[in-house]
Amino acid sequence: MTDTAEPPQTPQSPETPEPPQTPQDPRNSRPSPAPGAPTERPDYARLFRLDGRTALVVGGGSGIGRESALALAAQGARVVVADRDLAAARGTCKLGEGLTPFELDILDADAVAAAPGELGDVDVLVVTAGVNVRKRILDYSGEEFDRVVGLNLRAHFDLIRAFAGPMAQRGRGSVIAFSSMRAVVVEPGQGVYAATKAGLVQLLRTAAAELGPQGVRFNAIAPGVTDTPLTTQIKADPAWADAYAQASALGRWAHPSELAGAAVFLASDASSFVTGSQLMVDGGWTAVDGRFEPPR
Ligand SMILES: NC(=O)c1ccc[n+]([C@@H]2O[C@H](COP(=O)([O-])OP(=O)(O)OC[C@H]3O[C@@H](n4cnc5c(N)ncnc54)[C@H](O)[C@@H]3O)[C@@H](O)[C@H]2O)c1
Repeated sequence: MTDTAEPPQTPQSPETPEPPQTPQDPRNSRPSPAPGAPTERPDYARLFRLDGRTALVVGGGSGIGRESALALAAQGARVVVADRDLAAARGTCKLGEGLTPFELDILDADAVAAAPGELGDVDVLVVTAGVNVRKRILDYSGEEFDRVVGLNLRAHFDLIRAFAGPMAQRGRGSVIAFSSMRAVVVEPGQGVYAATKAGLVQLLRTAAAELGPQGVRFNAIAPGVTDTPLTTQIKADPAWADAYAQASALGRWAHPSELAGAAVFLASDASSFVTGSQLMVDGGWTAVDGRFEPPR
């Protein structure tokens, strides 16, 4: 790549002799490429390929996690489909090649800490496990608050700590977690969920700052309304479901497969210079804050 290429040499004029160089002179040393830095142009035809990499998809038994796992495997990754629901993880694995189920409850901090030792090197960590209790703040119980924060924040914190350290030691890795458009915009009843998703983005950004020099990238994907078991409550109410469809620029819900491309992008070398970002995959929901068209 050009950013690591030798700068062009200009011939020296005898009238302007080169000043003596000291060991501290930066021209004496050429920095070695940082971990993860490409040294040549990639094969663009294989830019999204993940052959030889191992991806762990936590929450891969359902919805967006299932589709992400299948898409990563289709790009050549060995994929471990982790879920607290082992039968669901097995169900995902039956749908593609190169997928292995793994039972993991990420609320069990000891199990999370032990997982890297059981699984070996993981190059890509995708976390899709998440929960929402849709209630106004005044109606929330402390137990509900702890449940949402426990899964959406604490468990993600534990996973990052368990897997990012070994990634940093190997000098490469990509961590992808699912935030939400609720990290950016809210409505009544989304308070705790929204707070955890915004907090998750800041956690990932800070991890990006701390471990970027060791070649580990951290990014969030922010879905809009997606047809999965997580949104069963909304789909059961036609007025609510339709209002959500109309709120996106595309006028519809997402199929969970429409999130998988973002996961492949952030897992692969196609995103080698992307870290600390939040990729909105929300059908334009957060781009549009009104529908009134002024008269022409
Ligand atoms: N579906 C949407 O409309 C939507 C919108 C915005 C953001 N998101 C986010 O996207 C992510 C994926 O959502 P989804 O709709 O695919 O959810 P989902 O409910 O379909 O799937 C979640 C999976 O996580 C697993 N899981 C739950 N708790 C777990 C635990 N403690 N340990 C291990 N696995 C556990 C579940 O068994 C399930 O297989 C979530 O973080 C969610 O907040 C979803």
